[in-house]
Amino acid sequence: MVEEILMLAEKMMTRERFIHTINVRDFALLLAKIHKANPKEVEIAAASHDLFRDVPSGKLLKISKIWNLEIEDIEKKHPILLHGKVAAEFLRRRYRLTDESILISVAYHTSGHPEMNEVGKILMIADTVGFDRDFPEVEKLRNLSYQDLNKAFVEILKNRMMYALKTNRYLLPKSVDTWNSTVEVME
Ligand SMILES: [Fe+2]
Ligand SMILES: [Fe+2]
Repeated sequence: MVEEILMLAEKMMTRERFIHTINVRDFALLLAKIHKANPKEVEIAAASHDLFRDVPSGKLLKISKIWNLEIEDIEKKHPILLHGKVAAEFLRRRYRLTDESILISVAYHTSGHPEMNEVGKILMIADTVGFDRDFPEVEKLRNLSYQDLNKAFVEILKNRMMYALKTNRYLLPKSVDTWNSTVEVME
């Protein structure tokens, strides 16, 4: 299954995106090993998360409607935000995948989700601080992710939301929900 997903990924993505996917997969597997998460689940989630990222907006919206996905207002405006949900639905339809921890991880890898478990956290961390990423705090966050998955997840979520605030961008409602549920857990 992972082999087939990667073959599809190579066809459906730009070269850069495919290289990113391989980087996310490798970093996610490293974190799975350190934190004893299920490597199969982590690999499937990482290999498929951006499968639909290079599909044009109009097409993403169309597929989402045909597949009866719940489309939020912000997703209507920026259909690229749907690429995770469409990828998760693809896994459900194409492979009869029912593993909620993979499906939630893939569907909400852009925003986070309050019910995300370690598979989703690993995916979001690898997507943000994998070896293909380079920004001022990347090294620090990468090291933190080896030590403490939950703390790294909170920091990455914070980083993304701070960036949205600083650049006057919309905060994804699911990110806010995830943030609230995570800090509640940490109290
Ligand atoms: Fe993505
Ligand atoms: Fe990605």
